[in-house]
Amino acid sequence: MKALCWHGHGDVRVDTVPDPELKSPGDVIIKVTAAGICGSDLHLLDGYMPTMESGDILGHETMGIVVDAGSEVKKVKKGDRVVIPFTIACGSCFFCKKGLWAACDTTNPNAAMAAKVMGHSPAGLFGYSHLTGGYPGGQAEYLRVPHADVGCLKIESDLPDEKVLFLSDIFPTGYMAAENAEIEAGDTVAVWGCGPVGQFCIQSAWMFGAGRVIAIDHVAERMALARTAGRAETIDFTKQDVYETLQEMTGGRGPDRCIDAVGAEAHGTGGIDAVIDKVKAAVSLTTDRAHVLRQAIYCCRKAGTVSVPGVYIGFPDKIPMGAFMNKGLTMKTGQTHMHRYMRPLLERIQAGEIDPSFVITHRLKLEQAPEGYKTFRDKKDGCIKIMLQPGT
Ligand SMILES: NC(=O)c1ccc[n+]([C@@H]2O[C@H](COP(=O)([O-])OP(=O)(O)OC[C@H]3O[C@@H](n4cnc5c(N)ncnc54)[C@H](O)[C@@H]3O)[C@@H](O)[C@H]2O)c1
Ligand SMILES: [Zn+2]
Ligand SMILES: [Zn+2]
Repeated sequence: MKALCWHGHGDVRVDTVPDPELKSPGDVIIKVTAAGICGSDLHLLDGYMPTMESGDILGHETMGIVVDAGSEVKKVKKGDRVVIPFTIACGSCFFCKKGLWAACDTTNPNAAMAAKVMGHSPAGLFGYSHLTGGYPGGQAEYLRVPHADVGCLKIESDLPDEKVLFLSDIFPTGYMAAENAEIEAGDTVAVWGCGPVGQFCIQSAWMFGAGRVIAIDHVAERMALARTAGRAETIDFTKQDVYETLQEMTGGRGPDRCIDAVGAEAHGTGGIDAVIDKVKAAVSLTTDRAHVLRQAIYCCRKAGTVSVPGVYIGFPDKIPMGAFMNKGLTMKTGQTHMHRYMRPLLERIQAGEIDPSFVITHRLKLEQAPEGYKTFRDKKDGCIKIMLQPGT
């Protein structure tokens, strides 16, 4: 089959690789009909994520049609249309039983390696380095899905792929970020990043009762989408001082809830911390550029909440712990507990409350994925979100 493979920093290609096969009785194989390119994939493209190997298949936002099923699979069968969560969960360990799916204890075969870096291993993830299991990803013609009965979300209506694909990651991710922000009715919520994840944070903040949403970015069309689809006010961090503007907008108190939907590759302007990050990252002295995380802590109102869906990788430095402690902030973060949110959010889509396809700007064939990665990374051609359609 054809698959999008990683070959090094800035180098992804469509290769011909062996088709996936069932490996255990709980697996299914799907023929991929749609796959997203995610901001998390950019951390791989840009070489921020260690333990990648040449030839690794990328992609963790996937849906398709079941073409083969292991003998123990009960809930889905050949011909079913399914959306696949990016986190792989077993459904029966201590964490899965508590609904903490992204913390599944059994699905990362390289758990010992992850535990060395993090203390404990998170769940296995599709297409996201050997540190999280080395599972081949879904930017491919076919995908093997372990624990199919636990993960697959069956789509029984005729909703098109573009309306349900993002149940695989970014809609639940934005929704969990808003939930983690502990929004109370009428709160002012500041969202850093108007990428696809930021857009779903904005949508979800309203669902949790926000009174006002302020979104921060510098890419004109992304900020415009935050204003139109997201009904947010916007701040351009290259033109306005984010701290001063947010304080002014909130009468000096600061936003009640701050969401970092940027993560490890924040751009900074002016701030000395951002310059240090850039230099250190360039010579591999830091794993992350944490400008936004620092700014969110600094801007947040006292006793407010900082929610971090943005991905961090290793050991970002100069986190203002003094401000965090003395202002009495709460921080919540994590890979998304996908399985908890997929069905309820599908019901919201079916009810017509939201159409997640509003973020899509590009629909590409799998063969066009390498140029798609670069267009998405460089924010060229108005690109906000790419949907790949293998088989077209
Ligand atoms: N927690 C999870 O489970 C999960 C799931 C999916 C994605 N993510 C993460 O969410 C983050 C965003 O993903 P995305 O797909 O939207 O990525 P993206 O790269 O498309 O968007 C990031 C946005 O942040 C903006 N930005 C950069 N520096 C900024 C700054 N200083 N202030 C404000 N905005 C700034 C960029 O201009 C861009 O529009 C990534 O780190 C990704 O890895 C996490
Ligand atoms: Zn993703
Ligand atoms: Zn588990």
